[in-house]
Amino acid sequence: MATLTYTLAPGVKCLLAGADTAVILPSKTRLEGLSPKPMAALRALNAGPIRFSADPPADVAAVLAHLLGAGAVTLAIDEAYTLRPFRAAPSPRPTVGVATAHLSKFSVLRQVDGAAVLESPRAWCDVEITDPALLAPLLGLSDNAPAQFWTDLVWTGHAVVDDENTEFATAAWGPHELWFHRRSTVGDRTTSWAHFGPTRWADGRFDPVPEAPAPYPGEAVALRTPDLDALRTGDMSLTAAVEDRRSVREFDDDHPPTLAALGELLYRSARTRASVREGLPSKPYPSGGSLYELEVYPIVRVAEGVAPGMYHYDSAAHTLEPVADIDDPAVQRLLEPAALTLADGKQPQVLFVLAARVGRMMWTYEQMPYAVILKHAGILTQSLYLIATAMGLGGVAQGYGDTAAFAAATGRDELDECLVGSFVVGTPAAD
Ligand SMILES: Cc1cc2nc3c(=O)[nH]c(=O)nc-3n(C[C@H](O)[C@H](O)[C@H](O)COP(=O)(O)O)c2cc1C
Repeated sequence: MATLTYTLAPGVKCLLAGADTAVILPSKTRLEGLSPKPMAALRALNAGPIRFSADPPADVAAVLAHLLGAGAVTLAIDEAYTLRPFRAAPSPRPTVGVATAHLSKFSVLRQVDGAAVLESPRAWCDVEITDPALLAPLLGLSDNAPAQFWTDLVWTGHAVVDDENTEFATAAWGPHELWFHRRSTVGDRTTSWAHFGPTRWADGRFDPVPEAPAPYPGEAVALRTPDLDALRTGDMSLTAAVEDRRSVREFDDDHPPTLAALGELLYRSARTRASVREGLPSKPYPSGGSLYELEVYPIVRVAEGVAPGMYHYDSAAHTLEPVADIDDPAVQRLLEPAALTLADGKQPQVLFVLAARVGRMMWTYEQMPYAVILKHAGILTQSLYLIATAMGLGGVAQGYGDTAAFAAATGRDELDECLVGSFVVGTPAAD
């Protein structure tokens, strides 16, 4: 029989109350009617790990199984691997071994605080691998692992007996997408708000990322400011804009958008209209924490009154800063994917590239900032759709963009600022 070592999980204590009652902290789970042996085992657990090289008495085994299922203890098996539960086990630990199994496509082996840890968005428990000899069979490089190891991996959700790609749901989810979903939401994995959401975790450790991005050199192009008072009464109604909005993929190159129109679209969708507090601007679209990490980079192939090229929209000054030439190969790589979905494979008249200065969000938010950034990209995209419709312009969102081309065109480090969306803008071709 394997040697089983139980250790209280970090932060867990057993409060022994009276002769037969224990309260497990911090969950405050009350265990009553315990006989002397389980009480002694809990007392011993408070002092340190407890080890069994033969089956523990049934009443002790039952209490330990309960603690393991509740995530209150870790269980090391033969000092080869350790189960570290973070939520309740769905079933008792199996005693009958599985014949064959292989690592789930969702499991990732990585180093966490110096330990080799197997993690999966489908598991209820991490597994720390402490015996290097298990690594080869784990990765399918040998079949030299004890049956109990695979049985425990199947039980914990890290290994599967069948092919995961025969069911639609598991075939459809890519590992990175399920990881992203699991780790950027509260639920099975993140069960407390202690390190989730707007915790301002970096406060005191790192300088916050300033509201204003580093300017691009070169002479900025002034943009027209639309008359919002006149638009409040004379503009298309909201209902008409929502109902008439559609994706436009065919444009009239003989009548491209004017610089004034581009200025109006940018002003109405993305300008900095005020400051809520120091470092927290207000813009026409909502943004988590009022952090406004998104930047707009219009790439102008053809427009009246402005030279072709890639620009950055300075949302505070309401100007366009030149970033790169239209012939720059990286700028062409940004335009190419958009051309694939437009009529006759034509390049867009104007492409708004949406980029995120991710550190604005990441300084404040834990675990979920990238997920929120993608929501912001969707929100700004809808504003662009509606305002373009109201202005008689046409547009279509783009589901993808070349992030490497954005880094090459702007010279910005992807870890500081990266492409998260694109929106084609132009004058619709006559029906
Ligand atoms: C996030 C997002 C990404 C999109 N990506 C593309 C795209 O890459 N190419 C394209 O032609 N249309 C794209 N679209 C437009 C959709 O195809 C379009 O909204 C949908 O067919 C509904 O049509 P409608 O917008 O005319 O109502 C995208 C839309 C959204 C919201």
